[in-house]
Amino acid sequence: MESAVVASLLLFLFVGWSHVAEAQLPIPAKIDGFVYKRAPVWGHSVVVEAFFDPMCPDSRDSWPPLKKALKHYSSRLSVVVHPFPLPYHSNAFIACRALHIANKLNTSSTFPLLELFFKQQEKYYNTPTYNMSRASIIHHISKLAVRAIGKDSLSAVQSGFNDSQTDAAARISFKYGCSRGVTGTPYFFFNGMPLSDSGSALDYKGWKGIIDPLLGM
Ligand SMILES: *[C@@H]1O[C@H](CO)[C@@H](O)[C@H](O)[C@H]1NC(C)=O
Ligand SMILES: *[C@@H]1O[C@H](CO)[C@@H](O)[C@H](O)[C@H]1NC(C)=O
Ligand SMILES: *[C@@H]1O[C@H](CO)[C@@H](O)[C@H](O)[C@H]1NC(C)=O
Repeated sequence: MESAVVASLLLFLFVGWSHVAEAQLPIPAKIDGFVYKRAPVWGHSVVVEAFFDPMCPDSRDSWPPLKKALKHYSSRLSVVVHPFPLPYHSNAFIACRALHIANKLNTSSTFPLLELFFKQQEKYYNTPTYNMSRASIIHHISKLAVRAIGKDSLSAVQSGFNDSQTDAAARISFKYGCSRGVTGTPYFFFNGMPLSDSGSALDYKGWKGIIDPLLGM
């Protein structure tokens, strides 16, 4: 009797597991993420992968100290930002999609747009947008994106929101974070390894404390 239970449990686990293993995530043509200032990602620098939600206050607060570290370490620090829309921030996916649209239309506008989102994110929180339609939120975000991407880009940005490729790119960003076990933002990886106290803003001293020893400083 007992061995029958064990056998059926094993069978259940085996069938369940092989089912999980079968679900192949879509493989993107290019690896996800926006490289800050096109720094070399491979080689002699410390590589930081930062998962940011443009609508998350802790992501916003962690960006200025990281930028300071980028200035300090120069070519010894490479930063790749992965947009990661948290499901409980209603407008986060639209914002992440806007970042992909910006990256497509004018690559050098991606980080300026991220900074605009950080500056203005309170306007796009759940409560102030509760009564707004999705179309109206996309319109507001498109107008914000134009400020980074360049004047005369409004119609290109609007059609970017109709382009299934930018939707797919934003989904890949989300799935990429999930595949790395990201559960909140900001979430940092140093040379591929997750920082265990991710989820809250890291200050400049915190960055130095981790990076200096890696560079033998
Ligand atoms: C949304 O609209 C309703 C009806 O006009 C109003 O009663 C409510 O206070 C509004 N909510 C917010 C969060 O603005
Ligand atoms: C691209 O974006 C950058 C950063 O916002 C801006 O300075 C530049 O003028 C934009 N390029 C065009 C062609 O509008
Ligand atoms: C986006 O698609 C909708 C529905 O297909 C269409 O009505 C709208 O005109 C399109 N907008 C742009 C800017 O292409």
